[in-house]
Amino acid sequence: MRTKIQPKSELYQLLTPQQIADLAESLIEHRELPRQYGYVGTGAQHWNQQSTEELSPATNRLLNADQAYLSELISRRERWDVVDLGAGNGLPARPLLSWLVDAGRMGRYVATDISADMLRMAEHNIRTWFDGAVPFEGHIIDLARQPFATHVGRTPRLVLHFGNTLFNLRNRDQAFGMVHDNMTANDFLIQEQYVDSPQDRLTRSARNLGPAQRLPPGRRFLVDLLGIGEDLYTLESGYDLQRSERFERIRLTTGASIRFDAGPVVDLDAGESLLVIRNPIHGRAESLAKLGEYGFTTPHVHHSDDERRLLTVSTVA
Ligand SMILES: C[S@@+](CC[C@H](N)C(=O)[O-])C[C@H]1O[C@@H](n2cnc3c(N)ncnc32)[C@H](O)[C@@H]1O
Repeated sequence: MRTKIQPKSELYQLLTPQQIADLAESLIEHRELPRQYGYVGTGAQHWNQQSTEELSPATNRLLNADQAYLSELISRRERWDVVDLGAGNGLPARPLLSWLVDAGRMGRYVATDISADMLRMAEHNIRTWFDGAVPFEGHIIDLARQPFATHVGRTPRLVLHFGNTLFNLRNRDQAFGMVHDNMTANDFLIQEQYVDSPQDRLTRSARNLGPAQRLPPGRRFLVDLLGIGEDLYTLESGYDLQRSERFERIRLTTGASIRFDAGPVVDLDAGESLLVIRNPIHGRAESLAKLGEYGFTTPHVHHSDDERRLLTVSTVA
């Protein structure tokens, strides 16, 4: 006997029919909630809050600590377009944009994001901070399947990847392949990522699966939208040693049948789990090797004082 579940009507307003079909397929084929669909409606507000209070200040500190190098990089060309991959609210990019404006080298700021709600926030922020000095262009793109190159011209580009966006994707190799193929020899990929220390590894090996209390609101959003109430699952968070991924997943305590309007039925048994988020975390050497595998050359690396965050500047040359 399975509990019948109806997704909330809001789901059909916030996601396109194609996205809902993809979400259902991901549940059926991979037992995974695609994280990229969770940044709409109140999900976007949750991200904005977390980004503003907690995450973007850390990215900004990392950029500021590497300002000398980044300013020298900016000075190498007359003008740069900036392409922000999964721009969110635009906050992590703010220091770079202000250095470009101050140097008189700001071209276009091309914010790409799967979520129109996030792009609206980014546009509002950019206009407020820069008062027209940063020409904003927002493009709704699913970087898991669409290129960004159609939206950019011949000006050299600084391509920003902050906040783990592509790492969260199930098919991240394909996404990085797309980014690589969309860049030219004049462009630079500026990426921030979390890295592991040897001590982190030891701690994880000793305690790689733990119960967690409750999903934070941002990551609970899509679960709630599907109608999967908290009485139907327990939460697990841990570290998958084989995949080098931190994960959160919900494990159903009862069988459930999710019935999409005019769409598929997703049958889940008691004891099955659904992945809510994955975050691959490598050590510094592996992170650089991964960039190499994707075809990037990385002439510059900077890390935070605690060595948990790595800023890399890579080319496809
Ligand atoms: C983790 S947030 C990072 C935002 C920002 N870069 C930062 O560092 O704060 C992910 C952002 O990328 C967007 N996003 C997630 N998956 C995406 C995809 N497949 N294609 C385009 N945008 C995506 C989300 O809507 C969200 O705004």
